[in-house]
Amino acid sequence: MAQEVRGVIAPGKDEPVRIETIVVPDPGPGEAVVRVQACGVCHTDLHYKQGGINDDFPFLLGHEAAGVVESVGDDVTDVAPGDFVILNWRAVCGNCRACLRGRPWYCFATHNAKQKMTLTDGTELSPALGIGAFAEKTLVAAGQCTKVDPAVAPQVAGLLGCGVMAGIGAAINTGNVGRGDSVAVIGCGGVGDAAIAGSRLAGAARIIAVDIDDRKLETARSMGATHTVNSRTTDPVEAIRELTGGFGADVVIEAVGRPETYRQAFYARDLAGTVVLVGVPTPDMKIELPLLDVFGRGGALKSSWYGDCLPSRDFPMLIDLHLQGRLDLGAFVTETIQLDEVEKAFERMHQGDVLRSVVVL
Ligand SMILES: NC(=O)c1ccc[n+]([C@@H]2O[C@H](COP(=O)([O-])OP(=O)(O)OC[C@H]3O[C@@H](n4cnc5c(N)ncnc54)[C@H](O)[C@@H]3O)[C@@H](O)[C@H]2O)c1
Ligand SMILES: [Zn+2]
Ligand SMILES: [Zn+2]
Repeated sequence: MAQEVRGVIAPGKDEPVRIETIVVPDPGPGEAVVRVQACGVCHTDLHYKQGGINDDFPFLLGHEAAGVVESVGDDVTDVAPGDFVILNWRAVCGNCRACLRGRPWYCFATHNAKQKMTLTDGTELSPALGIGAFAEKTLVAAGQCTKVDPAVAPQVAGLLGCGVMAGIGAAINTGNVGRGDSVAVIGCGGVGDAAIAGSRLAGAARIIAVDIDDRKLETARSMGATHTVNSRTTDPVEAIRELTGGFGADVVIEAVGRPETYRQAFYARDLAGTVVLVGVPTPDMKIELPLLDVFGRGGALKSSWYGDCLPSRDFPMLIDLHLQGRLDLGAFVTETIQLDEVEKAFERMHQGDVLRSVVVL
């Protein structure tokens, strides 16, 4: 029997979001229905609402979520009703060329639930990032559910489902930050701050935070930045070099997604250093660099998709570290809100007032 629940939809380009009744089908093969307990408000939800991702309106928004599995399809064995889980964007296939080479975090054939959630009139919904968790319940592929220690608060756990994992993973998975490294992070929103927290966790000796907003730099310090640079008033490349003996940082993480900040990252790293692009550019953006500099500076220019995370490996580990007091995920939660406050949360996000607003259900 399909169920009816409340959920937040984006009805059309730039229209305000609203609460609607959502029809959630029973889970079919490979699927699970999850009772959502918390879901963070992410910039990507706002992009969906603005029509910046695609035109498949109406969207069921929300994708940084944790909750309890309510029911699973016949063949599902990895999770069971009652399990406390964090949702991820993409269930790994196990069979594509990346998975078969033992690199499932790159899986090129990830999937979501096959069945569609709908409005009561039968209109099919497009769930944000294949999740759609600003809703009391949501239907996902069972492989999108990762069991973690239920001792963690849901509003904290859910954050690993997107931006915080992307940032931590950009540092520890993509950037391979290690003990004693110098790291610079350009852009200190939720993702950049998570990259700072990840770098601290990995043992980086020097962590330089760069932003154009002093409020963000203050938070970055509390996340583990040892030095801060306001790039509105100070040349960040010069400043990062000065703070690293004149050489540049071993790893520079670009968490804005713009040509000018990528260029800063490129020139602010040491010889043979690594640039990690975790910020997402728009289709119109271009960058030109002297090819001799690309060659002569050596090292690695990498992109970080979802922090190159493998949820089954990374989510339980990071939750355990949080519960042991070694990773303060709670610091990312600025406020908890109700389902009908998502529109307001978008405004606060736009003004740069919050790291994360989290809907609790
Ligand atoms: N790669 C992934 O898988 C992945 C996942 C989630 C988010 N992201 C991307 O990461 C980026 C950051 O996301 P967020 O949630 O932290 O966003 P955010 O808006 O919270 O933070 C962006 C930060 O960059 C700062 N900033 C803006 N322009 C700057 C400039 N010129 N120089 C220095 N700092 C500048 C802002 O002041 C802000 O602090 C976005 O592009 C987002 O789409 C990527
Ligand atoms: Zn695969
Ligand atoms: Zn997100």
